[in-house]
Amino acid sequence: MLRKEDPRFIRGMGRYCDDIQLPGMLHLAILRSPVAHARILSIDTSAAEAHPKVKAVVTGAALAEKGLAWMPTLSGDVQAVLATDKVRFQGQEVAFVVAEDRYAARDALELIEVEYDVLDPVVDVRRALDPGAPVIRDDLDGKRNNHIFDWETGDEAATEAVFASADVVVSEDIVYPRVHPAPMETCGSVADYDRVEGRLTLWSTTQAPHAHRTLYAIVAGLPEHKIRVISPDLGGGFGGKVPIYPGYVCSIVASIVTGKPVKWMEDRSENLISTGFARDYIMRGEIAATRDGRILAVRTSVLADHGAFNGVAAPVKYPAGFFGVFTGSYDLQAAYCKMTAVYTNKAPGGVAYACSFRITEAVYLIERIVDCLAYELEMDPVELRIKNFIQADQFPYRTKTGWVYDSGDYEPTMRKAMELAGYDDLRREQAERRARGELMGIGISFFTEAVGAGPRKDMDILGLGMADGCELRVHPTGKAVVRLSVQSQGQGHETTFAQIVAEEIGIPPADIDVVHGDTDQTPFGLGTYGSRSTPVSGAAAALVARKVRDKARIIASGMLEVSVADLEWRKGSFHVKGDPSASVTIQDIAMRAHGAGDLPEGVEGGLEAQICYNPENLTYPHGAYICVVDIDPGTAQVKVRRFVAVDDCGTRINPMIIEGQVHGGLTDGVGMALMEMIAFDEDGNCLGGSLMDYLIPTSLEVPDWETGFTVTPSPHHPIGAKGVGESATVGSPPAIVNAVVDALKPFGVRHADMPLSPSRVWDAMRGVPRPP
Ligand code: CDP
Repeated sequence: MLRKEDPRFIRGMGRYCDDIQLPGMLHLAILRSPVAHARILSIDTSAAEAHPKVKAVVTGAALAEKGLAWMPTLSGDVQAVLATDKVRFQGQEVAFVVAEDRYAARDALELIEVEYDVLDPVVDVRRALDPGAPVIRDDLDGKRNNHIFDWETGDEAATEAVFASADVVVSEDIVYPRVHPAPMETCGSVADYDRVEGRLTLWSTTQAPHAHRTLYAIVAGLPEHKIRVISPDLGGGFGGKVPIYPGYVCSIVASIVTGKPVKWMEDRSENLISTGFARDYIMRGEIAATRDGRILAVRTSVLADHGAFNGVAAPVKYPAGFFGVFTGSYDLQAAYCKMTAVYTNKAPGGVAYACSFRITEAVYLIERIVDCLAYELEMDPVELRIKNFIQADQFPYRTKTGWVYDSGDYEPTMRKAMELAGYDDLRREQAERRARGELMGIGISFFTEAVGAGPRKDMDILGLGMADGCELRVHPTGKAVVRLSVQSQGQGHETTFAQIVAEEIGIPPADIDVVHGDTDQTPFGLGTYGSRSTPVSGAAAALVARKVRDKARIIASGMLEVSVADLEWRKGSFHVKGDPSASVTIQDIAMRAHGAGDLPEGVEGGLEAQICYNPENLTYPHGAYICVVDIDPGTAQVKVRRFVAVDDCGTRINPMIIEGQVHGGLTDGVGMALMEMIAFDEDGNCLGGSLMDYLIPTSLEVPDWETGFTVTPSPHHPIGAKGVGESATVGSPPAIVNAVVDALKPFGVRHADMPLSPSRVWDAMRGVPRPP
């Protein structure tokens, strides 16, 4: 089925935040810190206030008077809305101007005088805990260092015992650099506060409108029922639109102060330097195995750079997100991870960029270290993986870090990818090319993801349980509307959720409207990120449709004058068993439910239902990826020649949309593996603040993707579906890096860090030590 939303997107008729125009609307611009770490000595706003088009200039001090200068982050830290005492990263919000138009607001920023006392910044994460390192968060009571948390998972002693007796132990230092989700649409909001009704309407670029509304109610003290958050069409989110950013809060304050609607839209640089980054993990990976390639245990220690405020978006009990799945797709005897997170003078974040809370880092670690082991054992990386896979009859499989994988059948997926790629022929071709001095690499990755957070007993965001509501109304004429608590950012929910409901209730998808992204019109739920829409909200949609169908069955029994047990459901109609002529369609039943005449005893009129779905477990999609690269020995430029992706996301709702999701994720992977990094100079200046510095891939850098699939349904999901939106972003970076490292094997290279730009590949070829 083609996407229902595309006619509006293709014709440029999407309605994004920046398309919102309200009568009398003012415009907000934010003054940002030019330095990474400094004490604010004074702020003079008088010249800006005198600008003829300026309506208000607000500083941190003004917000502090109202108790609004600081706000909670999603991980329970606090973050400055506007700096009061110090600035802690380059690009931090210092003041804002509200003016009649966007240009005047920007002009007036230049009239604000800020006197800074520049302090030494903490830029190198490895130095953050040094004695005498500048303390970034002196706003926190008694804080004397830059330590945020220590976290561990697995069994340290058991892992040590396995390592001590293993034939082979391989270690490698592996860096997952800081990257940015870089959605096409930057962040923004339009706040409209009605002083008479005390009602706030906020259009904002959020992936989680309901959770945001509750947090605004708690932080700003506005009554929740008087707040309406609308997330219109979003130009991509990728996890970057989960946090609440200071700009959203500023626009609310500005509307309350001026009594007018106020719009704030970031520009590209603001988005790249100040909104949630992703990754930034320095990992030491260790793997223990027998000489014949049986993997026994993995162990890792991680240093996590969280920036100036801990803005990690993850369920509260999981400070390192779902990094605990770093044991991958392998049946191990033991595993252990130890992590330390620190503050640095960089933008806050740690968002789940197209992945389920740090799974990208986990998959990269295991898939890289398994390749390092294959290198040492001189074993084919596919053979090593297949030998260690969790077997189909071991599911549900409890990992050594406590995750229960719901279902999987790994070897057929791997074999399918090998078949599509022509793996044996590729290896033969590689041998021939190597003999001619050419650099061709073949990279494998095999991943298992954990997507669909909750269940709510284990997972919450700031006390809000991770579940999702869904409401279905069938109108008298048999047309329906389904209301979701999740919010699409381009994934095609208006199509796939209509399909899910259609499959259950037999109304054609074209007759089912999907409403999402408006707290006044949809039931409460935690929103879209971490590929949770299909596993959680998709389940809710199927179950609410079944609930409506159950009621329809009772009404049908009255219409056909038979007992409920005598009815048989065939998609779209109930039939009397043994009497082919006696049937009613769902449309007939809808009219009857609303029409004249009696309904069976105890049945209320109408045909609608609402549920809140709390998932029993996460779903665990998996996939096998094979990448072929060629490296120019003269320029060290990597070209991805082929990429084969075989994904298993259980029951597939819309194959075309799945393919699109996979294409996008693979493209993301090329970006991270070869081009993308938010770097900083020694003063803490962000070196990735524009799309000329922060390179993202285009169609020119990617091959024609070759995709395939296997289907292993989730046993606990009502329709057996698992998530897919993030699989390819998670699975592709290790495949590409493994391919590049494989190409460099003749130079004795066992590892090289992303992004594998020509200069890094060139250094790896020449044995230059890796950058710190
Ligand atoms: O949460 P998010 O929508 O980002 O991710 P998802 O649940 O993995 O779904 C991404 C898109 O792929 C949605 O439109 C899904 O309905 C669709 N999908 C599908 O057609 N079949 C699946 N088994 C999983 C997702």
